[in-house]
Parts: sequence; structure tokens; C-alpha cells
Amino acid sequence: MKFDTPAGMNPIDRLTVVGKPTPRIDGPLKVSGGAPYAYEHHDVPGKPAYGYVLGAAVAKGTIRSIDTARAQRAPGVLAVVTHRNAGKLGKGKMNTAKLLAGPDVQHYHQAVAVVVAETFEQARCAAGMIDIDYARSDGAFDLVAAKAGAKEQGGSDAPTAVGDFEGAFASSPVQLDQNYTTPDQSHAMMEPMATIAAWDGDKLTVWTSNQMVNWGLKDLAATLQVPIENVRLISPYIGGGFGGKLFLRSDALMASLGARAAKRPVKVALQRPLMANNATHRPSTIQRIRLGCGKDGKIAAIGHESWSGDLEGGGLEVAVQQTKLLYAGANRMTAMRLAVLDLPEANAMRAPGEAPGLMALEIAMDEMAEKLGMDPVAFRVLNDTQVDPEKPERPFSQRNLVRCLQDGAERFGWSRRKAPGQVRDGRWLVGMGVAAAFRNNLNMKSGARVRLNGQGTVTVETDMTDIGTGTYTIMAQTAAEMLGVPLAKVVVKLGDSSFPVSAGSGGQWGANSSTAGLYAACVKLREAIVEKLGFGPGEALFEGGQVHVGNRSADIARAAKSGEIVAEDSIEFGDLGKKFQQSTFGAHFVEAAVDRYTGEARVRRMLAVCAAGRILNPTSARSQVIGAMTMGVGGALMEELAVDKRFGFFVNHDLAGYEVPVHADIPHQEVIFIDEADDKVSPMKAKGVGELGLCGVGAAVANAIYNATGVRVRDYPITLDKYLDRLGEVA
Ligand code: MOS
Repeated sequence: MKFDTPAGMNPIDRLTVVGKPTPRIDGPLKVSGGAPYAYEHHDVPGKPAYGYVLGAAVAKGTIRSIDTARAQRAPGVLAVVTHRNAGKLGKGKMNTAKLLAGPDVQHYHQAVAVVVAETFEQARCAAGMIDIDYARSDGAFDLVAAKAGAKEQGGSDAPTAVGDFEGAFASSPVQLDQNYTTPDQSHAMMEPMATIAAWDGDKLTVWTSNQMVNWGLKDLAATLQVPIENVRLISPYIGGGFGGKLFLRSDALMASLGARAAKRPVKVALQRPLMANNATHRPSTIQRIRLGCGKDGKIAAIGHESWSGDLEGGGLEVAVQQTKLLYAGANRMTAMRLAVLDLPEANAMRAPGEAPGLMALEIAMDEMAEKLGMDPVAFRVLNDTQVDPEKPERPFSQRNLVRCLQDGAERFGWSRRKAPGQVRDGRWLVGMGVAAAFRNNLNMKSGARVRLNGQGTVTVETDMTDIGTGTYTIMAQTAAEMLGVPLAKVVVKLGDSSFPVSAGSGGQWGANSSTAGLYAACVKLREAIVEKLGFGPGEALFEGGQVHVGNRSADIARAAKSGEIVAEDSIEFGDLGKKFQQSTFGAHFVEAAVDRYTGEARVRRMLAVCAAGRILNPTSARSQVIGAMTMGVGGALMEELAVDKRFGFFVNHDLAGYEVPVHADIPHQEVIFIDEADDKVSPMKAKGVGELGLCGVGAAVANAIYNATGVRVRDYPITLDKYLDRLGEVA
């Protein structure tokens, strides 16, 4: 099905199942241990041996020699694979660095070997017996130092300019010109990268944890240099990804290589201390924001520049993305520059671009509102735009930012906010902050197969994944709505490369795209059912387990009495995303308290109001946003990969040193969805929320801390060492 004109009314609009708060259908399996994660599959042919990945001990250099003899003789060891015996390897399209180092080393903890043994302990022990002589070379590890040599990129990363930014900024009566920084961050998901690999002759099956089954499949085949049809990738349950599992990573490659060498299935989980440096991370940014306003508060000039780093051949953190679209202003510029760094591979982490971009922009907006003597909500409302400010002929498909801000302000009790440093609660300084949330809505081609059997059971098959987001449930809701059967009559099978290729879970495109693909398959199945029943032409109503056309009716199961009916289709998106800017919006409100003596910061209350099209399942959507708000508090107050700038690695590479908050750290979190349906995005009229929920949170916390203390911090995370010495000025 091609989606190139706005959706009319369709069976989803009945909203008898879709749009209703629905507990996750996979919940009981997950909480009872019945949902197999990558490391836990039991349908593997043969008992898996254990692979232990050894990471490079230098950030940059060459392996001069590697001696595995002692490791190979160690108890229980079945195989040791290094670049010398791995065979010829290709490189995945999505990987910047090689997943198996050698002889060159591109980053710290890049995999240099996998030891396969009967037990994990034996493999780990033997890994310690591998003797490697490295020739270490100097590298660039410091973004501040590398900034001067950073280069502009082309395509959609190229600088943008509208009107006369420099002139308008220079002549603005109220100006802001500030720098902000965000640190390197780690996905820190609960389940590490993990894979079981098994060869049957030249056929390979991997049970893995990957957000994008088709990308993983293609890159694994390309890296191993085997035909893609010889590989099957299975990823039905994923213990969090946040972008870290968008791509093939070393667990899958090393398990496959280890299994081939040991002639046994092999399981590999990347050890937690390897995760930060072996896997990808969100790169740090340096951002400069300039705002020029009239005395009336209207933005006349808005400029955003960002610097980030990556390995040679890598990509930018697109931190200026939202600034192109969020606020009005006739004169504008954005620019991004990429520095080559020899730190581990940088890549997407939840809301890549907007998450760190808004951490800067939305502090700048708060600072500008103060300079203007305006309320920060009113200042944002005044500068709303209903068209793409860079291309005014392009309207937004739907944009309810103003409502998010205004409804949120009312619900949160924003009118009680005082000037900075004015509210005390015992030893606590208390303040409120706001930030806008913005994240683009992306649509991706997505396919599904759907089956009806003689018992009236509907089975959905697609390689779509559920990374903890609730995909199983919204897919079941979609099929149930389309075919008029109860949820209990729908079986959803996900995450298997033998199923039709879906959009996968990334860029918050998963929910809308994958349910739209299933919608397309269900349209075909409905047609096949009506035909099988011989009901002839006329509008069909699928309801209560029955099919009605005109005055004829039958149980849906009857259509499949003589055999299963199978339909398959995909949704392909036309240019509605070009004609209309498709984005999601929100407003975050935060109340924070800072201990005036110790500087301890606590978030007391949070509210998010989101406008993200139709909400397919308010229960799982709310969970997504609450999780994102919690993550945003981490970004504001805690998260930072500390860089060893001498040797080029992330020092705090485990969950003891890399701190993240949990829900229990924040006493009160609330989420409100604006009642919307966007007919320009898909027949589902839905958009993503998973990443939107994170966008702006960090700045809302920063602004609340400023309002509490009167002390402004522009370098994340806002740890107390950055403001404690200034608390005396207000306390
Ligand atoms: Mo997301 S960073 O595209 O998983």
C-alpha cells in the first residue's frame, strides 16, 4: 500500500481497541521469565559454549604480535578467534569501525579476540592468558582541543541560512550569545549486547538483541561475507536499546566466528565493563546559541552552532535539528562541525540530535525570557510558528506546541513560580522550570504478514521488534481493530528475519510505521476473507468476530474453515513528509529543590504534555514518556562518560560509575497527551512518543535549578561541583 494522500476515515477510527489503555500482552511472559532474551534461548541445537570477548587495551595503534597458545591450552577452551584466524571479513554498512580489530586498533576495547570455552569462567580465565604486544600511537581524544580542526559536512548536515542572521543579530536590542556543553553518554540499557550463534553447515542462525533485524541481518552477512539467505536473525525480546542496538555489534560477530571455529553454538554477552567503550555512545557536544530579540520579545535572529566528534568516517550529533523548526524568526543560521576523535564509535542514542540540542536551546530560551522580563512560557508561545521557518511554504502537518505549553502551565501551577532564589522550604531552595519538547516524526517502509485460521485466530508476523516499548500490544490492537476480533484472538510474532521486513525500532518511527504496515496487510486479509465468504462487493464491517457485507453476515472463522488465509503487504510512504513538516511536540515542567548548604539537587515533580498524533496505547505511551523523563533527569544531573584524555577511553565503564536515576528518585511524574489524530502521517494517524519524552527534559531541570538557586549552569551534567560555590550568593 502506498500512502501518499491524507488518510480518510478507516476501520482504525472506530477506536474500539486502538487508543484504549491496554496492558502489555507480553507482560505476563516477561515477569514470569517466560520471554526468552538473547542469552536465554533454549531452542538452540546443541548446548552452547561460552564466548568471552577481549577488548583492545589501547585506543589507537597496531597489534604487533598476538600469542594465543597459552589460552588455547587452558582448561575447557574450545577455540580462540583473532583477526589472524577469523578469515576474510567485510564491514557492515552501519559500522564505522571494524567489529574485530587487527592488526590496526581503532578504539579502546575494540574486540581483539573471542575465547570459546565450556564455561564462562574458563573462557574469561583463558582470555587473560592471551599475550598481545601493541604499538600504541597518539590519538585525538579531546573535543575542546579538536574543535578548531572540525569540519562542516554536506547533505542534510550542511549549514543552513535564511535572511541576514549576522545583521539582524547585531541590530537586535536584546541579545544572547552563550555556549553550552553536553557530555558523552552511554545507552546503559539493562540487557547488554548478547547473541547465541549456531551454524548448520553454511547456514547461520543468531538469536540476538537488535532493534533493526534487517539492518543486523544485512551487516552480519556482509561482515562474514556469506550470502544473506544463509543467515537468520531472531530478536523477539530486547531488554532496552536506546539506539545502542540499532546496528550489528561485536557480540553477534564474535559469537558467529566463535561458533564457526568451535563447531558448537556459542553465546556471547558483552561483559558490562566492555559496553561503554566497545559499543557506541552519544558523543559530547559544544554548542553556541545566539538569539536576537526585539523589546516585544519576538525573535529576529536565531543561530545555533554545534561541534561533535567521531572516528574517521563517522557522523555528527545533529544537535541543531530542532532549531531549524521550533521557533519563528526571519533571520536564521545553523551549522555543525565534525571533529575526528579516536574515542569509541559515536552514534545514535535516544532522540539523537534533539536530546542534546534542546538541552542547550531551551536553556538559551529561558535566559532570553529573563533578559526580556517575560514569562518563559509566554515567550515560547509568542514565537510559535505554524510553518517551517526555513521554508515558509511548508506547513506543519499538525502542531500543538502552544497547547502543550499552556495546558501544562495550568496543570502544573506555573503561575506560582517566583523570581530565582525566592522560594524556601526549610533548607531547600525550590524552583520551577519549563522547556519545549520537539522531535521529528519519521516514517519508514514497513511490511507484515497476517494469517487467519479456522478457529478465528489472527496471527501477525513481521521482523519488527519490541525494545520494551510495547510493540507486541499495539500490533495486537491494530489487528484486532482491523479484523473485529478480541485481543485474545490475536497472536503477534516479532523479531525474526524470516518474517516480512519492517521499519524496526528506531528514531521513534517504529510504532506508527509498523502498525501502518500491519494495517496494509490487514486490508488485504479483509479483502481475501470477504472474497472467500463469497459476499460480493459492498462495504465490509468486521465486528464482534463477524463479517458483515450488506445484509449478509458470517463468523470470521468460517472464511478459513477449509484452510488458513494468508495476506502480506507493506506500507510505503510517499512525499507527504516533504509537503508537510511532520513533527511531535511537547512541554516539560519540572519542580526541583537544591539543598542550600550541600548543593544536593532533587527533582520533586515533573509533568509532560505531549502532542504526538493519535496515541495507540495510552498505557505504554505513558510508560515511554515517563521512562524518557527519568532518562532526561539523568542527562541533566548525572550522566557523563568521563574521558581519559591521555589514553582515550571512557573511565566509568560500568553501572557503578555511570550513574542513572530510576523512577523512585522522582516522587511525582505525570503525562498528558493532547487528543490528536494526524491524517498526513499514516492510516493510523499516529506519531512517535518514545524519543519526544526525552527532548527538553534536561533543560527543564536546568531551568528549575536556576529558578531555585539563581545560579546558572551551562555545562551538563549539572553536578553540584559546578554551582556549590555560588550558592552562598543567594542562600
Ligand atoms: Mo533510536 S537512537 O533511533 O533507537
